[in-house]
Amino acid sequence: MKLAILSRNTKLYSTRRLVEASRDRGHSVRVLDPLRCYMRIASDGFQMHYKGREIAGYHAVIPRIGASVTRYGSAVLRQFELMDSYSPNTSDAILRARDKLRSHQLLAAQGIGLPATVFGDNPDDTADLLSMLGPPPHVIKLNEGTQGAGVMLTEKLSASKGVIEALRGLYANFLVQEFVAEAKGADLRCFVVGGKVVAAMKRQAPKGDFRSNLHRGGTAKGVRASAAEQDVAVRAAQVLGLGVAGVDLIRSARGPLVLEVNASPGLEGIEEASGVDVAVEIVDYVAGRVREKPARRLAARR
Ligand SMILES: Nc1ncnc2c1ncn2[C@@H]1O[C@H](COP(=O)(O)OP(=O)(O)O)[C@@H](O)[C@H]1O
Ligand SMILES: [Mg+2]
Repeated sequence: MKLAILSRNTKLYSTRRLVEASRDRGHSVRVLDPLRCYMRIASDGFQMHYKGREIAGYHAVIPRIGASVTRYGSAVLRQFELMDSYSPNTSDAILRARDKLRSHQLLAAQGIGLPATVFGDNPDDTADLLSMLGPPPHVIKLNEGTQGAGVMLTEKLSASKGVIEALRGLYANFLVQEFVAEAKGADLRCFVVGGKVVAAMKRQAPKGDFRSNLHRGGTAKGVRASAAEQDVAVRAAQVLGLGVAGVDLIRSARGPLVLEVNASPGLEGIEEASGVDVAVEIVDYVAGRVREKPARRLAARR
């Protein structure tokens, strides 16, 4: 297949691994910087250019779109979709996943376990809002934060109120959650490809922190997720419409709870911890879907 990887930097570990895996499997692959893709949108047909040249005919794209370029990157991806390229994660699914509030609403509506979560707009409602959640400790999160930055723990009600006031002053969107203390700073990253957990790792926060993100100094170790955990992870990815997803679960006294579904999960930590060739899993899944595509289109026409 003719494959494009949408990524800002060919040197990033995940991008490099996807290129390697594609070449190993005999596909033609090119890395395209989404910010250098530009397009003409007209009812008589689309046109996309890249650094002065027309690009077309990609059977599939694998998006690796960072949080800082979500808007432009998803517009470029949508254009590829309209030009008939297959993507394991569609632009709509990526936008759903990037918005923590929206994804929590969708997951909860399907009965998927989450830490109890509240959000609200007006300062006059803060006291009642927090009473809907229950007593502290609370975890306060920026709605579009990543890598653990923007996730705060408040141990007292006065601290929750103070942080909320400060965030409102900055016009930041946030949500407030119950703190799952029994997780003891650990979470479980399940890497889902095509409706299967292909690898999992347990991440442990460094001493003195409750956030287990590797970017915050967390450590990782390969583990096997339980059947219940695999089931929740697969369902969460499916609810958001993601073919490739990093589903973060926290092990609570009432079972696995979803913290976050990452639409562009990094490969370095998970490949290292689990020993699984996750890049090949992704490329093979995409190639399989591309092979099925003509059949799917015929079936739709019938
Ligand atoms: N409600 C919670 N209770 C306990 N720990 C939490 C809770 N929410 C998040 N954490 C910890 O903080 C980390 C970062 O939170 P997460 O929601 O995944 O934000 P980010 O998008 O920044 O990674 C999690 O991996 C987990 O270790
Ligand atoms: Mg996270």
